[in-house]
Amino acid sequence: MSNQIDKDNFEPKIVAFLCHWCSYKAADLAGTSRLAYPTNVRTIRTMCSGAVDPVYIIKALLDGADGVLVGGCVLGDCHYQSGNYKARQKMKILHAQLSALGIDEDRVWLRWISASDGVMFRDVIFEMVEV
Ligand code: FES
Repeated sequence: MSNQIDKDNFEPKIVAFLCHWCSYKAADLAGTSRLAYPTNVRTIRTMCSGAVDPVYIIKALLDGADGVLVGGCVLGDCHYQSGNYKARQKMKILHAQLSALGIDEDRVWLRWISASDGVMFRDVIFEMVEV
């Protein structure tokens, strides 16, 4: 039995932490609009992108996720005022820590996806699966 990855049949596992007020609603809209996107993503609803502890992200990576998406409201639209600014700051620190550990920081994405943008949610998932 080989431990090598079969690149032709590789199906990445993506964990998406989505804020309740925007990105999760965008994912919902993508579904209700029947926008097809890869099934590689497992969504976890959070109240705000700022509530996503970097420990959750590291745990997801250690437990086998190939990529992690944190989705939040567009800057200035966070329902908790500054949660997404805090998420952006946490992500900068996390990316630096991942690099220091030899983990490709591109495995963790932060995107601002508004509730009305199901198309953007679909496109981000396609992009993550293809990278
Ligand atoms: Fe969406 Fe804060 S409520 S990022």
